[in-house]
Amino acid sequence: MIKVLVDLGAASYEIFIGENILSGVEKFVTGKALVVTQKNILDLCAEKFPYEVALIPDGETAKNLHEAEKIYTRAIEAGLDRKSVVIALGGGVVGDLAGFVAATFMRGINLIQIPTTLLAQVDSSVGGKTAVNHALGKNLIGAFHQPRAVFIDLKFLETLPEREIKSGLGEVVKYGVISDEKFFSYLEDNAEKILQRDLKTLAHVVKRSCEIKAEVVGEDERESGLRRILNFGHTLAHAIEEETGYKKYRHGEAVAVGMMAAAQISCELGKTSAENVRRLENLLKRFGMMTTCAGLDADKLYAVTFRDKKTVGGVVNWVLMRDFGDVEICRDIPEHVVKKVLGTRN
Ligand SMILES: NC(=O)c1ccc[n+]([C@@H]2O[C@H](COP(=O)([O-])OP(=O)(O)OC[C@H]3O[C@@H](n4cnc5c(N)ncnc54)[C@H](O)[C@@H]3O)[C@@H](O)[C@H]2O)c1
Ligand SMILES: [Zn+2]
Repeated sequence: MIKVLVDLGAASYEIFIGENILSGVEKFVTGKALVVTQKNILDLCAEKFPYEVALIPDGETAKNLHEAEKIYTRAIEAGLDRKSVVIALGGGVVGDLAGFVAATFMRGINLIQIPTTLLAQVDSSVGGKTAVNHALGKNLIGAFHQPRAVFIDLKFLETLPEREIKSGLGEVVKYGVISDEKFFSYLEDNAEKILQRDLKTLAHVVKRSCEIKAEVVGEDERESGLRRILNFGHTLAHAIEEETGYKKYRHGEAVAVGMMAAAQISCELGKTSAENVRRLENLLKRFGMMTTCAGLDADKLYAVTFRDKKTVGGVVNWVLMRDFGDVEICRDIPEHVVKKVLGTRN
């Protein structure tokens, strides 16, 4: 079993990565436990959890205060108290919603994350961001609440629909770009094995991704500075997702398009080479990902980037690339440069 430490002082915790590792969860269960999950996921591993269960519907729309309230009710009825623990068993939707409940129930109780999608394993289960959506916007209501432990069982990846694997790979590629050229080459060299879901290869991919996320979060838990580099590709991704009503693109697919645009803007501004842009595009294509957002209007997308939650005081923060493993935050990118790239990526 692989262990990765998220070093946050008193709030530090470990990420356990391996196959068939869920028996280790028990050690972290203090008092009563409530597993928050979806029916299809529970069916994969029901016998492993002799705890109370709260089922939520599938899909992004379940990440709301109404579902949170139903989980609070379930928790109260099951007799959970301050010593109890919420276990988030699922993808990012379950993780964000269950995490939000754990952050707020009785002013915060213990949380264990068991991420079952690649996206959740490499990104959303680590770092302590929890949230629900509001009718007027995504992730608008939330809290920072670090888990006590994260259990990543790679076996879950075997049943994951192919599109969800690709979505997770969007974030994986991002880590190579923002922090580690060697990891980026590893992805290039092992693209086939990754797509075939070779679990040994995926173990390294998940481990390295978690290490990078843990490192960034360890330096900047509340996203005041460094953590912003995790948003590489996300300025445009959020705009694309919003413009298409969160229906057409999986998150990581939108991130792939967003990363290509950010790389190209970097190239237009003379910060990175055309060769680097091609290298990124080639890897995304090998993973079968879209690299353009056909059918979307450049002017409209540009306008939507200003509505992003991460936009502070009307200034859009773009994460731009200088090289693999070397990025910078840039403000005030000239409008014509962004629109030119959005136009050609269309
Ligand atoms: N908190 C954070 O830091 C953070 C970071 C990134 C994304 N997010 C959030 O994550 C959410 C997206 O998460 P997601 O992409 O995991 O989507 P998701 O949770 O909707 O899961 C995708 C689908 O896969 C199914 N599934 C999950 N595990 C499975 C398995 N092992 N086998 C078969 N099917 C399985 C789910 O039932 C669902 O239908 C968004 O709401 C996003 O805002 C949060
Ligand atoms: Zn993301």
